[in-house]
Amino acid sequence: STHLVGRSFLADKDFLPSEILYLIDLAAEFKDLKRRNVSHRYLRGKNIALLFEKPSTRTRCAFTVACTDLGAHPEYLGKNDIQFGKKESVEDTAKVLGRMFNGIEFRGFSQEIVEQLAEHSGVPVWNGLTDLWHPTQMLADFLTIKENFGYLEGIKLVYVGDGRNNVANSLLVGGAKMGMDVRICSPKELFPHEEIVLIANEISKETNAKITITESIDEAVKNADVIYTDVWVSMGEEDLFAERIRLLKPYQVNMEMIEKTENGNVIFLHCLPAFHDLDTKVGREIYEEFGLDAMEVTDEVFRGMHSKVFDQAENRMHTIKAVMAATLC
Ligand code: CP
Ligand code: NVA
Repeated sequence: STHLVGRSFLADKDFLPSEILYLIDLAAEFKDLKRRNVSHRYLRGKNIALLFEKPSTRTRCAFTVACTDLGAHPEYLGKNDIQFGKKESVEDTAKVLGRMFNGIEFRGFSQEIVEQLAEHSGVPVWNGLTDLWHPTQMLADFLTIKENFGYLEGIKLVYVGDGRNNVANSLLVGGAKMGMDVRICSPKELFPHEEIVLIANEISKETNAKITITESIDEAVKNADVIYTDVWVSMGEEDLFAERIRLLKPYQVNMEMIEKTENGNVIFLHCLPAFHDLDTKVGREIYEEFGLDAMEVTDEVFRGMHSKVFDQAENRMHTIKAVMAATLC
């Protein structure tokens, strides 16, 4: 299929349910090719720019390995490597990159920047996370769900935690697209922004998705197929640590919450990186200051039988491969 050639992937809301499904199924095919060690160098001779204003493990590595497997050359441009937005405008940078590269990935703060890049570069631009959306993450999440349940429609997807971050937004809108029963469970202060809920509700009229926004853990997790959480403090919000811990402490994903689903087949997802054991420098400081030994998820759940987080992380690579291949050839 070539219907996505030339398209950018900037926000989940811009893609039809059939297009999202197409990308997920294409990713499954790439995963199979990789498993069987079958060469799939469909992007031989292409050059891909990888722009990162924020740190990344999965997204950067997924794009890099996906490029290499597809026969393309990835060029990493970190925030201190180019003048981007400082001594050279986004528009000019976009125009220059568009003359040299076949596609551009951007991870950063503002959604406007990734949109400007797409507008001015003339090549497909892929959103590798902004403050507003994380669309390539959603594809990997849905591939993981499909691998476990065989379908997406009607899946009871519960997102617990910060209801207004990029990952929550993408799951809410993406889940609405796929006709899921999406439940966002967070304290009122962190309920999704009204515009996002509006988009999701509008979509669900066509897809029969069910959208629930609630403070109540009991209401949200009942019969859940998927419990999903993300960090309580996203990149760029580091000042908000104390407040977020206060607000989100009751929303930690632990065995008690998993049992409340009354579903033995429930799976646990997390986009990663996760604060499940605090054996990191920042973690030890948090432990000393707040006396918590885990933040958004306990180690028991994270490493337990319900957890699919490392399949999910691997699936970032297969789904990103699908996005690049579908939009470039
Ligand atoms: N999930 C995700 O985007 O991870 P990175 O921040 O490591 O890319
Ligand atoms: N919400 C997190 C996701 C990281 C992949 C952040 O933006 O930091």
